[in-house]
Amino acid sequence: MALTLQCCFCLAICLGLGFWASQVEARTLDEMAMVNKHEQWMVQYGRVYKDVKEKEKRFLVFKNNVERIESFNQAGNKSYKLSINGFADLDNEEFKAVHTGYMMKSTGNKRSSSSNTVFMYHNVTDVPTSLDWRSEGAVTPIKNQGGCGCCWAFSAVAAMEGITKLKTGNLVSLSEQELVDCDINNSGCQGGIMDKAFQFIQQNQGLTTESNYPYEEIDGTCHEEKAAYPAAKITGYEDVPANNEQALLQAVANQPVSVAIEGSGSSFQFYSSGLFTGECSTNLDHAVTVIGYGENNDGTKYWLLKNSWGTGWGENGYMKIQRDVAEKEGLCGLAMKASYPTI
Ligand SMILES: *[C@@H]1O[C@H](CO)[C@@H](O)[C@H](O)[C@H]1NC(C)=O
Ligand SMILES: *[C@@H]1O[C@H](CO)[C@@H](O)[C@H](O)[C@H]1NC(C)=O
Ligand SMILES: *[C@@H]1O[C@H](CO)[C@@H](O)[C@H](O)[C@H]1NC(C)=O
Repeated sequence: MALTLQCCFCLAICLGLGFWASQVEARTLDEMAMVNKHEQWMVQYGRVYKDVKEKEKRFLVFKNNVERIESFNQAGNKSYKLSINGFADLDNEEFKAVHTGYMMKSTGNKRSSSSNTVFMYHNVTDVPTSLDWRSEGAVTPIKNQGGCGCCWAFSAVAAMEGITKLKTGNLVSLSEQELVDCDINNSGCQGGIMDKAFQFIQQNQGLTTESNYPYEEIDGTCHEEKAAYPAAKITGYEDVPANNEQALLQAVANQPVSVAIEGSGSSFQFYSSGLFTGECSTNLDHAVTVIGYGENNDGTKYWLLKNSWGTGWGENGYMKIQRDVAEKEGLCGLAMKASYPTI
């Protein structure tokens, strides 16, 4: 009896220890695999940390993001996938602080009342069931705003590049940096809004080319000598009637359109492919350009968005996002502040 008990006890300890040891081992292996993954990721994205402390901190954020992304994809019950991209060592607050840049709360964010009344596409009925402005050659390659909160400049420029191509036949890559440096009504890397950018471009008699005034990812001083050579002009801009995806469709059927969006959620941050359906709210903090629309085999309608986060994000830099949702603001608020330049 005593012996049996002892053995049981012993066995229990052995089993317990064995179990404990294998758990520790498994955890260590997982941890090591994650450390390796982080190292490889650092090489892939050329990331260097200033010291061991910073690296440890970034590792923990990276690990947390990887685990969230993997469990999201394993659940497999959404129409889109996430992936580990160049933002994987940033927590959501840090990401939001440097990679977006649509100013929502600034006092100067009111729309000028003069532009609010006219919507030239009001009576448009000829709207194809799907459209992709890329196939009409009206979209320049994906750009990358990097660590400067000037999404507003990229959004406005993409819309202007689009209408310029449609009106003149020439697709020319135009300068975001000119807007960042010279448009004092916006705040460069600290954020801005597209309507003011259009206003600036109109008053400035146009915008020069990307190659003449290249992107630098920082707030600089305005190079008047470069800005003096505009490559394209606009006559003004119009706002799409707010909270109306049907009106947005009428506009997009005629030209690429700038929209503000809540683009800072972690599923937006790590979106990689498929049809995005949220989670998101309508706290507009980012700006992109709608360059088309369509419908999936299952009947789900979507908008095609051009983003400014490089080709490593989303579907080579683009996103399909659900269209005609129940909320009048559109998914992530994309129908709230849409506008386009006129020529
Ligand atoms: C999808 O899967 C996740 C995780 O398993 C779960 O929390 C969520 O409720 C599921 N959503 C739907 C719509 O089934
Ligand atoms: C749309 O049609 C109405 C009625 O024919 C007309 O009054 C209005 O000016 C038109 N709007 C535009 C923007 O063409
Ligand atoms: C800047 O904003 C002011 C006030 O709204 C406006 O009068 C001015 O035309 C704007 N200037 C430019 C260059 O956009």
